[in-house]
Amino acid sequence: MAFTIAIDGPAAAGKGTISRAVAAHYGVAHLDTGLLYRAVGRRTLDGVAPLEAARALVAEDLKADDLRSPEVAQAASKVAVLPEVREALVDFQRAFAARAGGAVLDGRDIGTVICPEAEAKLFVTASAEVRAQRRLDELRAKGVETDFDSVLADVRERDARDMDRADAPLRPAPDAVTIDTSALDIEAAIAAAIAAIDGRRPSSGAG
Ligand code: DC
Repeated sequence: MAFTIAIDGPAAAGKGTISRAVAAHYGVAHLDTGLLYRAVGRRTLDGVAPLEAARALVAEDLKADDLRSPEVAQAASKVAVLPEVREALVDFQRAFAARAGGAVLDGRDIGTVICPEAEAKLFVTASAEVRAQRRLDELRAKGVETDFDSVLADVRERDARDMDRADAPLRPAPDAVTIDTSALDIEAAIAAAIAAIDGRRPSSGAG
């Protein structure tokens, strides 16, 4: 039986790390749906129209090595506002979610729009300051020159755009379990996610 795990939340809350660990724990495939929007945003920086880029997207595009830059993140969040771009990316995500072995999808609207029937839904969040510090550490580790205030401004700008858009805004599904990772280390955050998901698995005896 397909068992879909939907993990949503704002940038740098720990979604990616938790999603990869959860997928490895249950032995299921993982799709970072932010990469779809990043790959589309990346092409718009080259002058391609957003919808054209979204319709032409192929799985290979998700492997491009510059998708993690702050410029591409901002471009991704801008194309993600466009309903026709979101619509063009729905089928790919739902097909992935329907894999026979089950799947973990992480993003902004997985539990609310893409997989409202997902068996387990998590909303992973943290304060903007904690998220900015984590992102700053990641960028510095990659040798990117930046400072806390500009990373925090970037996080806030993207949060506002992701939460305030009319189509599929970032928000927890009514039946999502919220995990605030502000004061949790990685191991504790992963353990909290697995405990929440175990409660929804048929084999857990929870019903
Ligand atoms: O998770 P991320 O930082 O890689 O996402 C990049 C942008 O893509 C984010 O600002 C909003 C958008 N996005 C979205 O709108 N819906 C998703 N399911 C995933 C990402």
